[in-house]
Amino acid sequence: MNAFPSLKLIDGKATAARVLAEVREQVDSLRRGGMQPALAVVLVGQDAASQVYVRNKVLRAAEVGIRSLEQRLPSDTEQADLLGVIEQLNRDPAINGILVQLPLPGHIDEHQVLQAISPLKDVDGFHSANVGGLAQGRDVLTPCTPSGCMRLLRDACGELRGKHAVVIGRSNIVGKPMAALLLQADCTVTVVHSRSHDLPALCRQADILVSAVGKPRLIGADWLKPGVVVIDVGINRIEEDGRSRLVGDVDFAAALPLAAAITPVPGGVGPMTIAYLMKNTLLALDLQQQAAQRERTACHSPC
Ligand code: GUN
Repeated sequence: MNAFPSLKLIDGKATAARVLAEVREQVDSLRRGGMQPALAVVLVGQDAASQVYVRNKVLRAAEVGIRSLEQRLPSDTEQADLLGVIEQLNRDPAINGILVQLPLPGHIDEHQVLQAISPLKDVDGFHSANVGGLAQGRDVLTPCTPSGCMRLLRDACGELRGKHAVVIGRSNIVGKPMAALLLQADCTVTVVHSRSHDLPALCRQADILVSAVGKPRLIGADWLKPGVVVIDVGINRIEEDGRSRLVGDVDFAAALPLAAAITPVPGGVGPMTIAYLMKNTLLALDLQQQAAQRERTACHSPC
């Protein structure tokens, strides 16, 4: 039976535009009060894809009125120097969000770098304080891609409570935080991965299927229960009919007749990631203001 109202294509581009318009309004209001949110983006090395992502993040920030500061460092940057840059950004009260673009060059310990970012400025939601806060269901900064997927799901499905969500992939960036957010929304959550037995059978149980594996068109019609809502996080470049194109983890043409709603690739989850980065920058500013207020109150109470 179809658990969701009507068949539809989930338009991530349109939803991201709405999120960005909301952010723009909030930024305008802050600026009228004399405050401009600021995001620092740190890129180490020359990775071509990372350069494109960083350029897009900076452009989008400008569009919504968020000031951005781009720090480009050479690939042979010492870890200590990168940690020094982060420490400076942590201390700068005019910077509200810090993002270190991943992957980092092999000689740098990614975990140590992410742990060095102040949890209140951690707009990626990768610091263990934020990962733990999410697991505990507290109001913390959460990773942008899964947060964007949740917005698409809420818009597409309405009530999520009690739905069986299956997440394919267990990465720290998408799979694990996605599962935590779905659990927070009262879904029944199953996480499956490359070592799971009979993936198609597990996925056929899903009312909501979120795929983040990075394998072009892995998921065919036999993986899907009729009426499923499909969120395809995969963005895979393939060569087909002599040209290069982007496809998701899901065989879109095969899934379309079965799904109650599905995200296309491109134009589905992709635009939501940057939109939620902008939203997180505002949330980070809010959390910093709350922390400053708590500190002022603590200072004025008798010891
Ligand atoms: N590289 C690929 N995805 C991401 C992301 O969400 N955040 C950061 N910082 N780097 C990435």
